[in-house]
Amino acid sequence: FRSEAEGFRPITFFPDRPDVMSTFTTTIRAPKTDCPVMLSNGNLVESGNLPDGRHYAVWKDPFPKPCYLFALVAGDLGHIEDRFTTMTGREVHLAIYVEHGKESRAGYAMEALKRAMAWDETAFGREYDLDIFNIVAVSDFNMGAMENKSLNIFNDRYILADPETATDMDYYLIESIVGHEYFHNWSGDRVTCRDWFQLSLKEGFTVFRDQEFTADVRSRANKRIDDVEVLRTGQFREDAGPLAHPVRPDSYMEINNFYTATVYQKGAEVIRMMQTLLGAEKFRAGCDLYFSRHDGQAVTCDDFVAALEDASGIDLTQFKHWYRQAGTPQLNVTGTHDPGTRMYALTVKQHVPPTPGQPNKECMHIPLRLGLVGDDGRDLPLILDGQPGTPTTRVVELRAAEQTFVFKDIPTRPRPSLNRGFAAPVVVTMEQSDADRAFLMANDSDSFNRWDAAQEYGAHVILRGVEELQAGRTPLADQAYLEAIGRIIADRGLEAAFKASLLTLPAEDYLANRIAVEDPLNLHAARKLLRRVLAERFKEQFQELYNAQRINAPYVPDAEGMGRRMLKRAALSYLGALERPATTLLVKAQFDAADNMTDRMDALGILSGLDVPERAQALAASARGQEYVTLRLYLPVGAAAAARSEEHTSELQSH
Ligand code: SER
Ligand code: ZN
Repeated sequence: FRSEAEGFRPITFFPDRPDVMSTFTTTIRAPKTDCPVMLSNGNLVESGNLPDGRHYAVWKDPFPKPCYLFALVAGDLGHIEDRFTTMTGREVHLAIYVEHGKESRAGYAMEALKRAMAWDETAFGREYDLDIFNIVAVSDFNMGAMENKSLNIFNDRYILADPETATDMDYYLIESIVGHEYFHNWSGDRVTCRDWFQLSLKEGFTVFRDQEFTADVRSRANKRIDDVEVLRTGQFREDAGPLAHPVRPDSYMEINNFYTATVYQKGAEVIRMMQTLLGAEKFRAGCDLYFSRHDGQAVTCDDFVAALEDASGIDLTQFKHWYRQAGTPQLNVTGTHDPGTRMYALTVKQHVPPTPGQPNKECMHIPLRLGLVGDDGRDLPLILDGQPGTPTTRVVELRAAEQTFVFKDIPTRPRPSLNRGFAAPVVVTMEQSDADRAFLMANDSDSFNRWDAAQEYGAHVILRGVEELQAGRTPLADQAYLEAIGRIIADRGLEAAFKASLLTLPAEDYLANRIAVEDPLNLHAARKLLRRVLAERFKEQFQELYNAQRINAPYVPDAEGMGRRMLKRAALSYLGALERPATTLLVKAQFDAADNMTDRMDALGILSGLDVPERAQALAASARGQEYVTLRLYLPVGAAAAARSEEHTSELQSH
């Protein structure tokens, strides 16, 4: 079981606090037949036989660590092994231990581990520090996964995969969680937390690191979209409700309840904002300083920020409110263009809503990344008094309740593209016409905002549809919206995964956050209706898109293959929405012919939303498919994993 946070004390008497750091030498003795495998942290320094069919192993971990990072494994397990050569040429022996018979499904996790080890060297200069790195994955581990020093422990759902039983999303999660736990070796193990109030010191930072890893080895644009969806549907809701708490909580009754979306996901956004404020180079220098200054220590979030300040010379005093104040900051933005002076003034008001125990908030220090898009769809140069250069994307720093930024030499009213890349975890409100949204949907050079404009526009169309249905009328098709979607379908320059994201309507979960009075039935109906209207209008195009993605090649769970299948699913789900015999047969045909779980699950997901006989047939024909659906709806313990798994649960529901 998991020894974090306070799980070592039930094993033996011990000062079970993260700032009590010791070097551990572990001697294990057990019967050879029951426990052929005996593992602990560090390097194996001695092993041998004992009388009575027993044997022993001595493990020594030279790095001081708190007891929550201790692990011991004794049992009968199979394993696969490999090697990794570090940046200074040291050989590391890698092994993944699994229950017997599952070895053949651990290969992808091993490849992911080697990618993660190489990435941490190039992205953060972090080298692995022992001769052995082991992962043990069992089916009844009581958490998602855990970063015990040199002996990561996993629930095997985050290790095992083959095309027959795992979807693209499973592969994606395995890669990201294997990376996450490995990255803790430095951000968590070598440098750990002084106390559990500092949990985000290791978790926020490590989530940030795993997000960057996935962005680098897969599609950066889509990774950002995925992470923001998780944040908005999970963390924003937490931050707006009775359980809102700061990234660094002030008090707790039970630390296990603080493995939350706020500590993990918002914590990662806080790190990302500091990277934005410092720039990539100074941020990296700050991280290097943090690791070297605090190696072998148990430290605080303040120590992390101090290292970034010292390496960059940038003052982050006001920024630290992000650690103290709960609640999602709200930005209200207005723009005025003066054609005479060719000036564009952008006024930004910030407000942090009250949260339990925090009725009044201080102003936050917020990096707002923005661009202004001109009539030709191109970014305008941003000339700002007192700021050098004429870049087309700028980070302006918000520090006061209200600030105005005046951009010079702007010929006509521009369309502002605000919070590019979702650089700050805030809600931005600005009055925008449908025409502006359609324009940004087609032209924004920032892929995140392009997607966001599409989501916003879709959300408005659906929410207007809800109002119509509530008034007893049938919503009329929004022609401009249909045309904007038509342009996306026709755009051959878009990456498949990104195109699929642009074509996906906002999830009901997300829309529900935007309705004052919950009305799930009309919301569902309005969204379904829009999907159907789009399907009718573009049926030939969706059919063409679907056919184009059906290439006859072996299943490969990489970013490119996943993107192709995402686009195929998007097209098929529109076709399925037509609920005609021919299109339903097409979905059923994919279900029947699929040679991998992704295609099969996608088809089953679409069928499950249709009231057709094929739905029951598919569910009955696939005992395996049903098991899979149940598995998805079961929330694993562990906040990072839970947030991620909710993501694909809702993805499934959105069909
Ligand atoms: N520390 C674990 C993780 O986030 C959770 O138990 O990886
Ligand atoms: Zn973690």
